[in-house]
Amino acid sequence: MDQILQSPIPPHLIDLGVGNPGPDLLPLDLLREAASHALAQGDTAPLQYGYEQGDIRFRQALAAFLEGQYHLKTDPGQLFVSNGVSQALDLICTLHTQPGDVVFVEEPTYFLALRIFADHRLQVVGLPTDEHGLVVEALEEALRHGRPALLYTVPTHQNPSGATLPAERRRRLAELAQAHGFLVVADEVYHCLTFGGDAPPPPMAGLVDTGAVLSLGSFSKILAPGLRLGWIQGRADRLRTLAQSGLLDSGGGLNPFTAAIVRSALALGLQDRHLARLRRVYAARLDALDTALQQRLGDRLRYRRPGGGFFVWARLADGRDAEGLMPKALAHGVSFRPGVRFSSRSGLRDAMRLCFAYYDEEGLREGVDRLARALGEG
Ligand SMILES: Cc1ncc(COP(=O)(O)O)c(C=O)c1O
Repeated sequence: MDQILQSPIPPHLIDLGVGNPGPDLLPLDLLREAASHALAQGDTAPLQYGYEQGDIRFRQALAAFLEGQYHLKTDPGQLFVSNGVSQALDLICTLHTQPGDVVFVEEPTYFLALRIFADHRLQVVGLPTDEHGLVVEALEEALRHGRPALLYTVPTHQNPSGATLPAERRRRLAELAQAHGFLVVADEVYHCLTFGGDAPPPPMAGLVDTGAVLSLGSFSKILAPGLRLGWIQGRADRLRTLAQSGLLDSGGGLNPFTAAIVRSALALGLQDRHLARLRRVYAARLDALDTALQQRLGDRLRYRRPGGGFFVWARLADGRDAEGLMPKALAHGVSFRPGVRFSSRSGLRDAMRLCFAYYDEEGLREGVDRLARALGEG
């Protein structure tokens, strides 16, 4: 396999498990225009070690963009530039946890966050979820037995379940974090990718003034993962702690060169236009996947259609172990992510995550055809 991409997909395979934007949606022309604009400014600052919290001009442009998306007043002083959510999570763990500390997660949760928590030797405790995300009563019960260092949540169009946490639960989370003295890390990467049904509740970024919430965002899902650019929104004192870390002290602010290019993309309105396109394309892809699943696997899979994000989370109606079906699926040229990967306690075995972002409608229909044949083999 070539050594260019993180997850190369063999040409014969339709990998419905991959969680990347489609290659046809990576905006080369947009970035060429933004880069030309940025480089024509005659400004060498983006080539120098940058301000630890991130270039103020980029943070101002980002704040204006987020105000448009989040419909919340956004203070550039409450934004910290990151290399994306993964790096932000890693830095937060470095500065806010010790090995052995407890981190609460949703069950299911974003499986690669579990890898980052493992790197920091954290003890992961999965909390129950329902169709609206984290069950707050279960959190209250868990808090009777001890306080975590962090609670990690993906509140909107969750990866993998697609669930969106209602406004009241978001507020309760922040209140409980304040009362018990832990930090809520809200991974809001899919918030701007809403394309069906109702608008989601305000992002948890609106709760950062409590000091109990850090909201993480990223350009990975709305522009391109290869940019490795994102942000942390939090109260100024929280961000100061991050900016004063050894990492930032030595290397300066993260990714100032890419931030300068993305600043141009924001200022020229290119990001807004691209996001509008993504919402149209992903809505059509979700439609295609949903229709194909209903037609070919309606009696075998149970799922709730998400209002955005990248994923459909499907349970096998007969309760079979999805991971055990993988050899058959691969033999039919299709793959998925087994539910167990998203569990903090080796559960969720009857589930699979299917992504509708990577393939176009035809690819998705073919993928479901293959999956139906594989599951039909008993
Ligand atoms: C919930 C969630 N968080 C974080 C990431 C990774 O984000 P980034 O590329 O900004 O590190 C992903 C990518 O799949 C994701 O689904």
